[in-house]
Amino acid sequence: MFYELAVSTWGREEIEAIERVIASDRFTSGPYVAAFEEAFAAYHGRRYAVMVNSGSSANLLSVAALFFKRERPLARGDEVIVPAISWATTYHPLQQYGLKLKIVDIELDTINMDCRQLDAALSPRTRAIVGVSILGNPAALDVMRRFADQHGLYFIEDNCESMDSELAGRKAGTFGHLSTFSSFFSHHISTMEGGMVTTDDRELYELTRSLRAHGWTRDLPADSSVFEKRDDDFYEAYRFILPGYNVRPIEMSGAIGIEQLKKLPAMTTARRRNWTLFQELFAGDNRFIIQRENGKSSAFSFTLILNPEAELSRPRIMRALKEADIGYRIITGGCITRHDVIKHYDHECVGGLPNANLAHDHGFFVGNHPIELRPQIERLREVLDRAAH
Ligand SMILES: Cc1ncc(COP(=O)(O)O)c(C=O)c1O
Repeated sequence: MFYELAVSTWGREEIEAIERVIASDRFTSGPYVAAFEEAFAAYHGRRYAVMVNSGSSANLLSVAALFFKRERPLARGDEVIVPAISWATTYHPLQQYGLKLKIVDIELDTINMDCRQLDAALSPRTRAIVGVSILGNPAALDVMRRFADQHGLYFIEDNCESMDSELAGRKAGTFGHLSTFSSFFSHHISTMEGGMVTTDDRELYELTRSLRAHGWTRDLPADSSVFEKRDDDFYEAYRFILPGYNVRPIEMSGAIGIEQLKKLPAMTTARRRNWTLFQELFAGDNRFIIQRENGKSSAFSFTLILNPEAELSRPRIMRALKEADIGYRIITGGCITRHDVIKHYDHECVGGLPNANLAHDHGFFVGNHPIELRPQIERLREVLDRAAH
């Protein structure tokens, strides 16, 4: 394809990392996963990181950990504030744990949650906010965290799309009580499949480790804060304290992650170079609403929403992109209330969701990669110029 949605970012280093794991003959989570977790936590200046097999699993464990934390911050029937646009598995764990979604509209320019509506979303049952930074662009994470702190709420930060972005000099993925990441193919780093939960809270860290692997005690330290280890190796080997999962990553993903993380700063710089070109070519063209940067975006991809005032036809534009061999998708899966799955959810929309619906009906994104994309972005510009009338 001339302009792909995603490309591989692996080189010799990742292949050699896989070979080292094969030579070690240990394939389940082990020392490479542990070393990657340590490096990832250090990169973000967080105390703890727990690797899992996907960003979706990271979100699932974050919600679960808040159910089992000692003071039980979350219980069935509680309300959680979420943005109207995110990936499906931002929401699914909330449904699976019997929580009610309070769905807040997005801002049309940042594509992130409109924090001016937080007060309207709050009720006596609200217990948490899920903040999502869409496609590399930091949401108002500082505002959300402050609001959460003021109202005694937990803040889960789904940073699966915005690794290495920054807000006020701080990395996204450091604002949540729990923050989650994805390292799926096409994301800022790729470990085949993969995800991470980071936190500074020791109890949440230990709960997450136990929930990751069967709900057992084996991965917890002897001086654990969540259980008391007995002096009986036989029973401790298979001792279950939580209704957990098995969402461990494989060892190869940890070994690859170590190599990918070393490349991350340079990859973000390259992504941002393309971002600057995209902004130069599209800013000022009021047929398109492009993403306004909040803080420093790690430029996952480029979004375009057709300005309704220009009365453009998205199907016509899609056809032109297809003919030009340019990949595109709806923005992060679109508005969650427009999907059939919503019938399974206890939910309430805070006001209407005009912007999320507009993005759903008139928006799309194209890829960005950590390599020079000038010819691709210029071709995109030409194609849209021809088709957008
Ligand atoms: C916002 C968001 N959350 C969660 C996920 C899930 O990550 P994964 O695909 O690794 O399960 C994604 C995936 O792209 C995402 O965009």
